[in-house]
Amino acid sequence: MMKIETDKLRPLGGGGRKLFVETYGCQMNAADTEIVVSVMRDEGYDYTDDIEQADIILINTCSVRENAEQRIRGRLTEMRRHRRRKPSLIVGIIGCMAERLKEELTTGEDAVDIVAGPDAYRDLPRLVREASAGGKGINVMLSREETYAEIAPVRLDRNGVSAFVSIMRGCNNFCSYCVVPYTRGRERSREPGTVIAEVKRLFEAGYREVTLLGQNVNSYDYEGLRFPQLLRSVAEVSPLLRVRFATSHPKDMGDELLQTMASMPNICRCIHLPAQSGATSMLERMNRKYTREDYLERIAAVRRYMPDCAITTDLIAGFSGETAEEHEATLSLMRQVGYDSAYMFRYSERPGTFAARNMPDDVPDAVKTARLQEIISLQNSLSEQSNSRDVGREFEVLVEGESKRSAERLCGRTSQNKMVVFDARGHRAGEYVRVRITGCTSATLLGEPV
Ligand code: SAH
Ligand code: SF4
Ligand code: F3S
Repeated sequence: MMKIETDKLRPLGGGGRKLFVETYGCQMNAADTEIVVSVMRDEGYDYTDDIEQADIILINTCSVRENAEQRIRGRLTEMRRHRRRKPSLIVGIIGCMAERLKEELTTGEDAVDIVAGPDAYRDLPRLVREASAGGKGINVMLSREETYAEIAPVRLDRNGVSAFVSIMRGCNNFCSYCVVPYTRGRERSREPGTVIAEVKRLFEAGYREVTLLGQNVNSYDYEGLRFPQLLRSVAEVSPLLRVRFATSHPKDMGDELLQTMASMPNICRCIHLPAQSGATSMLERMNRKYTREDYLERIAAVRRYMPDCAITTDLIAGFSGETAEEHEATLSLMRQVGYDSAYMFRYSERPGTFAARNMPDDVPDAVKTARLQEIISLQNSLSEQSNSRDVGREFEVLVEGESKRSAERLCGRTSQNKMVVFDARGHRAGEYVRVRITGCTSATLLGEPV
C-alpha cells in the first residue's frame, strides 16, 4: 500500500477511500497508471493492490490488437461479481480502449461508470464525483498539449531500481495498421526541465535505471531541443544511472543519437528498432516510410558506432496482401540482422485505421498463424544464438532483485537488456555486479559473480 502524506488527505468524496488500477498494454500505459495514482492520491484516494478492498477500480486499457480488447471485455464481465459484493463500487475504463469506444462503454450489461481517455487523467477526480452521484463520468477529449509534465508519478513497481519516465505522448506516424495515433492523439514533447528533475529525484531515491518513453522518441522536440540532447542530459545525472529508451522509429533514428549513445557508457547498449516487415513493398503498404535497404543501413550504422549493441524489434505477420515472398523477406531480414529478441504479432485489423478503411484483411487465418509460427521459431533460434555468444563473457549487471525461483539467486540485466540469474553472494538490488556468463537458455543468461 502507498504511504500518503496527511496534508494531501482531502475528503472530496474520497476520505480514505481506496483505488485499485489494473494495467494492460504498453509501457506508456504502465507509466500513465502511475500518473493516475498520483492525481487520485492528491484527492485523498489511497492506492491498494488488493482489488477486494477497492472503492474504485480503474482498468487502463489497450486497443492495439483485437485480443487485447477481448481480454478487457472479459475482465469487465468479471467486475459483476465485485459489484454484487459492493454496490457502491465504481468501475472505470481508462486509456486507449476508452478513447476508441467512448460512450459505448457506458451502455450494455457491463456498463462502466467512468470513461477517461489518455489525455483526461487530470479530470478523473471530477469524473469520480459524477459517478459517485449516480451519473456517468466521461471525458475522451484528446489534447495537443497535455504531457502531465509536473505530475510526480507514484511508483508502483516493487524493485525500486528501474522506472519509466514518459517524455512525450501521442504519435503522428499513422502506420496504416495502427490505432495508436487515434487513441493517443498528436505528438507532443514534455518540457525537458521536468524530465531531468524527475530523473534526479529517482536517482536520489535509489533508482539506478530509467527508461525514457514515447511512441517515437526520435521525434522528441521541445522548442528545438531534440532527443539526443535530452538523452545526454539525462545520462549526465549520474554515471551510476543507466538510461534506456523506447521506441525508435527507423525512419528518423539519426547518427547524432548513435554518437550520443556511443559517447556515454551509461546509455544502455540496446536499441529497439521495430522493422514490422522485411519487404519494401509491404513497408510501403504499412506507410512506414523506409525501405528494407534504409533499415539495413541504419542497422549497419548502429553496429559501426556500437559493435556490442543489442538490437530488438517488432514484427507483424499477415498484414493486408502479404505474399509468400514478402513473408520470406521478413525471415531473411531477421537472419541478416540477427535480432537479440523480438515481439511478434499476427495482424489484427483495427476499426478506423487506414488499413481497415482501404486495405482488405485478406491473408487467411491459417496462413497468418503459420507465418507467425515460422517467425517465432526463427527468433527462438536467433535468441538462443545471441545468448550462446555471451557464454564465457563478463558483463556488468544491475541487480533488480531475487530471482523468481530462489532467494539465494539474484536477477538483473546487462546493458544489452538481457536477464542474468546468478548466485547472490551478499549482493543486493540496486548494486552493479560483474558477472561471468556460464550458461544460458533462449530467454535467460546464467552466471557467477567474479
Ligand atoms: N510506437 C511503437 C509501438 C507501437 S505498438 C512503434 O512504432 O514501434 C507496438 C507494436 O504492436 C508495433 O510495433 C506493431 O508491431 C504492433 N502492432 C501495432 N498495430 C498492430 C495491429 N493492428 N496488428 C498487429 N500488431 C500491431
Ligand atoms: Fe503505431 Fe506506427 Fe505510431 Fe508506432 S509509429 S505507434 S506503429 S502509428
Ligand atoms: Fe496499447 Fe495504447 Fe499502448 S493501444 S500499445 S496501450 S499506446
